[in-house]
Amino acid sequence: MNYEKMLELAELAAKNAYVPYSEFPVGACVLCESGNTYAGCNFENSSYGLTICAERNAVGTAIANGERKIKAIAIFSPNKKNCTPCGACRQVLSEFQSDEGLDVILQGDEGIKVTPLKVLLPDCFEL
Ligand code: THU
Repeated sequence: MNYEKMLELAELAAKNAYVPYSEFPVGACVLCESGNTYAGCNFENSSYGLTICAERNAVGTAIANGERKIKAIAIFSPNKKNCTPCGACRQVLSEFQSDEGLDVILQGDEGIKVTPLKVLLPDCFEL
């Protein structure tokens, strides 16, 4: 699947975000080595720290479907261009990046922006 279509799926997922506290919807779509894609949105909780980011929701759905290698993730927020993944999500993504790495796809100021995860998270923690 091409990166434009993935951003569209992320945009669609953001419409389901549950964000009564921040009013900051985010959608994400991961592309796995199988060729399958999985979308996720953020969902918040009155106990704020329990909030789950869109990226981790999408990764969790991929894992629950038996996937283990992720090639790319598209992230979209209607509130903000260049909506980069938070530090925690970068670390979670690093766990499942494909052998060729993982592309992070964002809606930039002038079209799609693609950045390798290793640029966003150099020297990630590994056991
Ligand atoms: N959020 C994400 O979904 N992904 C990120 O990478 C950063 C933040 C969500 C969490 C919360 O629901 C809202 O954005 C504001 O922080």
